[in-house]
Amino acid sequence: MCLVSFLLLFGFWFQSVSSRNLSRSNIQQIGLPPRGWNSYDAFSWIISEQEFLQNAQIVSQRLRVYGYEYVVVDYLWYRKNVPGANMNSLGFDVIDQWGRMVPDPVRWPSSNGGNGFSEVAKKVHSLGLKFGIHIMAGISTQAVNANTPILDTATGAAYQELGRVWYAKDIAIQQRRCSWMSNGFMSVNTRLGAGRAFLRSLHEQYAAWGVDLVKHDCVFGENFDLNEITYVSEVLSYFNRPFVYSFSPGIFVTPAMAKYVSGLVNMYRITGDDWDTWQDVAAHFDISRDMAAANLIGAKGLRGSSWPDMDMLPFGWLTDPGSNEGPHRYSKLNLEEKRTQMTLWAFAKSPLMYGGDVRRIDPATYEIMTNPTLLEINHFSSNNIEFPYVTSSKNLKNEYQQRIGKMNSMKGEKQIHSLGLTGCAESKAIGWTTGNQSLNRDLERICWKGSAENLHQNPFCVHKRELPLRLDGESMYHEDYRGKHHLVATNQMRVCLDGSTKRKDTSKDLKRATFSPCRLDSNQIWELHSNGTMVNSYSGLCVTVKYLEANVVSGGIRSWIATGRNGEVYLAFFNLNEQKTPVYAKTSDLAKVFPGRPINFCQGKEVWSGKNVATTQGTIFMDLEVHGCSLFVLHCK
Ligand SMILES: *[C@@H]1O[C@H](CO)[C@@H](O)[C@H](O)[C@H]1NC(C)=O
Ligand SMILES: *[C@@H]1O[C@H](CO)[C@@H](O)[C@H](O)[C@H]1NC(C)=O
Ligand SMILES: *[C@@H]1O[C@H](CO)[C@@H](O)[C@H](O)[C@H]1NC(C)=O
Repeated sequence: MCLVSFLLLFGFWFQSVSSRNLSRSNIQQIGLPPRGWNSYDAFSWIISEQEFLQNAQIVSQRLRVYGYEYVVVDYLWYRKNVPGANMNSLGFDVIDQWGRMVPDPVRWPSSNGGNGFSEVAKKVHSLGLKFGIHIMAGISTQAVNANTPILDTATGAAYQELGRVWYAKDIAIQQRRCSWMSNGFMSVNTRLGAGRAFLRSLHEQYAAWGVDLVKHDCVFGENFDLNEITYVSEVLSYFNRPFVYSFSPGIFVTPAMAKYVSGLVNMYRITGDDWDTWQDVAAHFDISRDMAAANLIGAKGLRGSSWPDMDMLPFGWLTDPGSNEGPHRYSKLNLEEKRTQMTLWAFAKSPLMYGGDVRRIDPATYEIMTNPTLLEINHFSSNNIEFPYVTSSKNLKNEYQQRIGKMNSMKGEKQIHSLGLTGCAESKAIGWTTGNQSLNRDLERICWKGSAENLHQNPFCVHKRELPLRLDGESMYHEDYRGKHHLVATNQMRVCLDGSTKRKDTSKDLKRATFSPCRLDSNQIWELHSNGTMVNSYSGLCVTVKYLEANVVSGGIRSWIATGRNGEVYLAFFNLNEQKTPVYAKTSDLAKVFPGRPINFCQGKEVWSGKNVATTQGTIFMDLEVHGCSLFVLHCK
């Protein structure tokens, strides 16, 4: 169904833009992971024009030469900063007559007189930088409540079709609200000409303001909306200059899910929001490994390449998540943890966006953010993958085989059922079975059986229940929900399995399968296919369940490897343990990841300590601090 509407929509748009004749030939490609600064970690949503431009000025003076070129205003730049307003308040936004967000003129004085962000973009460009803005999915509840008309940018007047004007209420999908900002925004129906006209009116305005990057939120991960993504990507691809298309949080992201979008965008978040806790840093190791293994790092993207995005680096002078306050505290990460985070981000070729207030960047942070080896690896290394053949003792030969073997074979009492979303055609989506061993005879029980190694664990089960459909004016959507169900918790009938989470943080223990009070919300509506897959009505993706131990995130050692532009070998060791740990790798194992290249001996430098290293006895070794890392630049033969 998704694919059909995508094709129809594509055909429609292709016709309408080709008649406008924009040249796509001379446009610079977006070929490297973007770098820059984003306002969120330091200012939450309350940043002012003055604070933004002060930061931009310093980015230009101190970071631009290191490739940091985007300065991005994060969310809610249109919200009035007055008592009662917060990240999920309703009715405090500044919108124009067409239901589009415009900057709050108190916080952004240059937007007065209908300028939007044009003046800010001009100043940013004059600093030699590029300008980005965060935007939410779909349309705002405020515009829907006001039922504003839709602008047709081709005529400059209200959008008309079938002899009438179209309004916000015609295109809004009330059941598809952004899960973590339910009062804020909801999807629009891209099957309607008016829905597409609305999205077009947004992005044409951003382009007219001089925006170079949009960070589109609540369309990926658990709030997956391939229709909106596809259409916005099309609109951006026909602008006559490079335009970075980026996604904000992607909770429950899997490589299969990333493959649906990687060709349509330039960067996409693969986790929830990353904050300055060790758990958040550690939660990025598995997902970045999986993205690398699936060849998604630097895959073909919108007019160039696309990059799995691990989020901003929350170093330096910060605020707190969802806060109404500006920066007021230093990052809780210590030096080792910051080095580890930056090193993993560099090896995974993540976009590098500094999150702290640049006006107060401390020397140690500045040194990490501008480390020439890491920046070289981040932009120019290749074949970046997790290197599994490391051990924490010279003699523990089998340690890495266990690691390569089964992460899932852990036994333990404290289980977390973690949801993943994947394409329904993937065989790993199969695993749901119905049975009748229920205490409640009226409700059918559905369990995730999972794979064989999980059989010793309690299966994850829910009950299937009819939807409480009302027959009111929204019958069009009722049609869509035929044959679909709520899935209630086995021990509490009032809560339903939710394909989303109310939080957008990264910490792994927030990723567990969530139940929330049952309501008519497409994130809670599911359809079980006869082949044992279960599709979520919001995302159109199928849900899998992983059984994890509660504290699986802590512990272990990791390593990444990559090749440099001049044939050097980059190797990083990471210590995720809570105690100092030695890490060893063998030259013969290094050779395994470079097939056809003889590697017998390596020598070079460890970057953080400055020490010379060599694989004298066929082994390279380093003692790592708690949460610390080492970074080797090796020449091997
Ligand atoms: C569109 O492209 C055609 C063929 O390349 C060209 O002849 C025509 O002048 C263009 N039209 C506009 C409006 O640029
Ligand atoms: C399961 O069935 C659905 C619905 O017919 C289909 O879309 C999906 O591709 C199937 N998946 C597998 C793995 O067979
Ligand atoms: C379901 O119920 C039937 C009849 O009550 C019984 O024969 C069957 O074994 C049950 N199936 C399961 C999976 O418990």
